[in-house]
Amino acid sequence: MLKTFLQLYGTLVVRNLAYSTSTTAITAHMRAVRIKYFGDPSQLYIEDQEPIPQLASNHDVLLRVAATALNRADTLQRKGGYNPPKGASDILGLEASGVIEKIGSNVQGFKEGDRVMALLAGGGYAEYVSVPYQQLIHIPKGMDYISAAAIPEVWLTAFQLIHKVSAIQPNERVLVHAAGSGVGTAAIQLIKGLPGTQVIATAGSAAKLEKAKSLGADVLVNYKEEKFSERVMDATNKQGVDIILDPVGGSNVDQNLASIAMDGRWVLYGLMGGPKASNDKFLALMLRKRVQLLSSTLRARSLDYKKSLVDSFENHALDKFVSGEYKPIIDSITTLDGVADAHRRMEANLNSGKIIMKVSKSLLAKDEL
Ligand SMILES: NC(=O)c1ccc[n+]([C@@H]2O[C@H](COP(=O)([O-])OP(=O)(O)OC[C@H]3O[C@@H](n4cnc5c(N)ncnc54)[C@H](OP(=O)(O)O)[C@@H]3O)[C@@H](O)[C@H]2O)c1
Repeated sequence: MLKTFLQLYGTLVVRNLAYSTSTTAITAHMRAVRIKYFGDPSQLYIEDQEPIPQLASNHDVLLRVAATALNRADTLQRKGGYNPPKGASDILGLEASGVIEKIGSNVQGFKEGDRVMALLAGGGYAEYVSVPYQQLIHIPKGMDYISAAAIPEVWLTAFQLIHKVSAIQPNERVLVHAAGSGVGTAAIQLIKGLPGTQVIATAGSAAKLEKAKSLGADVLVNYKEEKFSERVMDATNKQGVDIILDPVGGSNVDQNLASIAMDGRWVLYGLMGGPKASNDKFLALMLRKRVQLLSSTLRARSLDYKKSLVDSFENHALDKFVSGEYKPIIDSITTLDGVADAHRRMEANLNSGKIIMKVSKSLLAKDEL
């Protein structure tokens, strides 16, 4: 009898507590998405005995996650093609919204109980994540956790590409590829927020182009049905575009060269169409038009860079979200348990905007706007 009780009690304790190997400290557990082996979405599973992370430094907060969102990079990491930066969690997830549960001694501007959205270097597909306060944004009054989870990664990326990397000016013409993507839908809104700008949007379906139009895109091109370079020339009085926002790379090289104006800025931020510029005359054509090839990543940037980006974005954009000028674009909402299907949807290019995963039912139920 006593033996049975001890066995049962032992099992219950082990299910809810873990003992660190180096000390006798007790760690509570959480649910998190894990990868069994690198590969297809069926390799994703829920681990309900994942240790809750410790604060990674004294400028970190422990975020209790209400909702998180998918990014294209997560699908690459799942396949083993994109390692997290040194020191980052190897759990997937580059953004989350939630409430601060605990703060480190050097955290500034945030306190326990604050509702925040977070740019993450990893760890978002979980109930808790440790994140430097420099990567947090206060959720404005009136915005719910679901909308907030749709903002950090793609809006900060688009903001960085448009305002820092290409340094866009009023009246410029911009070719936005993958216009129905998370980044693309944010980029169109940011560009159209500037006076006189023209957006030429490419996407692979009528529905995505309609979405781009509703966000302000001026010219819509289904790249699967027509040559975007010809449409660019028609729409720009044969001048070409001043800026190309390009997450495609390889398969678009020739048409991008034909589409860009003299002194244009070609901003490369992804390689969904492959890493190779197969045109033998690539450098000659770039030189002839004095093209500036610019590129950027975000995840592996320094904390100082992220802090400065977050501050500029907050100043520029938060009021505009509150007024409704900017909208986080949500494709669909699922839960952590739906993660494999969510990855399948993204890899089949079916989403237009963000796929959100609800994480904490109780936080979402009492979301105080
Ligand atoms: N460098 C950075 O800092 C940074 C940060 C975040 C994201 N990114 C990159 O930004 C891109 C968009 O990310 P996201 O999370 O917003 O993606 P997403 O929502 O999954 O959308 C990606 C879309 O791109 C289009 N696409 C896919 N393969 C294509 C190809 N070969 N040629 C043309 N279009 C293609 C598809 O739409 P269609 O139906 O229109 O084909 C797809 O739905 C990704 O490449 C990602 O890696 C870069």
